[in-house]
Amino acid sequence: MGGGQVNLAVQIGKLRMQNPVTVASGTFGYGVEYAQLLDLNQLGAIVVKGIRLNPVRGNPTPRTAEVTSGMLNAIGLQGPGVDGFVKKYWPFLKELKVPTIINIWGTTVEEYAEVARRFDTLGGVGALELNVSCPNIKEGGAQFGTDCKLLSQVVAACRKATTLPLIAKLSPNVVSIAPYAKAAEEAGSDALAVTNSFPGMAIDIETRRPKLANVTGGLTGPCIKPIAVKLVWEAAKAVKIPIIGMGGIQNAADAIEFIMAGASAVAVGTANFYEPQTALQVIAGIREFMQRKVIQDVREIAGCVQAGK
Ligand SMILES: Cc1cc2nc3c(=O)[nH]c(=O)nc-3n(C[C@H](O)[C@H](O)[C@H](O)COP(=O)(O)O)c2cc1C
Repeated sequence: MGGGQVNLAVQIGKLRMQNPVTVASGTFGYGVEYAQLLDLNQLGAIVVKGIRLNPVRGNPTPRTAEVTSGMLNAIGLQGPGVDGFVKKYWPFLKELKVPTIINIWGTTVEEYAEVARRFDTLGGVGALELNVSCPNIKEGGAQFGTDCKLLSQVVAACRKATTLPLIAKLSPNVVSIAPYAKAAEEAGSDALAVTNSFPGMAIDIETRRPKLANVTGGLTGPCIKPIAVKLVWEAAKAVKIPIIGMGGIQNAADAIEFIMAGASAVAVGTANFYEPQTALQVIAGIREFMQRKVIQDVREIAGCVQAGK
């Protein structure tokens, strides 16, 4: 390819993305909220806020708190449920040129499978991202994502329920991510998303109260980036399937770090809240980096740190 042209397209299972940059679930609403702020059709894909079978009210407020170089949130996976999503948001999303990745969750293996089945029959969905950082009600509240057996069960049940590409979004709250990455791959996941938020807490010393009504929440933003990059690097060593890397990405250099660690694509999360154009800036910056370094295809640098290239 001459004239400074670079190829940014990547493949996540059957899903083709025109560039490797998407947005992280829960930080971009259902796409429509950001439609006036950036050209959605320039993204690699849109990932929507987590959906379970029925509507969810979420946690009491305050549900977010700023911390140094990041934020805590305990939204409580508020959402409209499958029917509410299909009615209210799908008519807008399905008309976009870029694929929609639907982040799904449940409190039982059966619920995950049912939600996957419902989106399979909807038609036109790009992929399903499985948020496994949720409690398993039947099994005493342990998180699906911190138990290899449960993780396998969720992925396998969804695999049976749909032919859509599956992206297992791994929890960072484990001693070693490799067995979880492998378990998801073996159970039929087409890709991994690494990473979800880290458990955290902040206290208002004036009132002597936790800053979140839920007391604890998920830590995200630039403060988690080095930990997330390491998790991507470890997961990429363990599996052959592609990885979507995320955690504190603010600019193209951050995104390229994730790609070099082994991610095929990346997602911008918390940064969307303070700079809605971040994902587009990341795309432009990756293109500029590739032109400057004479890299024709973004896949050339994916995992280059693994290979020592
Ligand atoms: C307010 C908020 C809501 C989130 N909601 C979800 C969700 O519904 N499902 C999910 O899998 N991840 C959710 N996440 C996690 C993000 O998708 C992402 O994994 C995490 O924020 C790390 O990326 P970042 O540091 O760039 O924000 C949420 C994060 C934030 C900040």
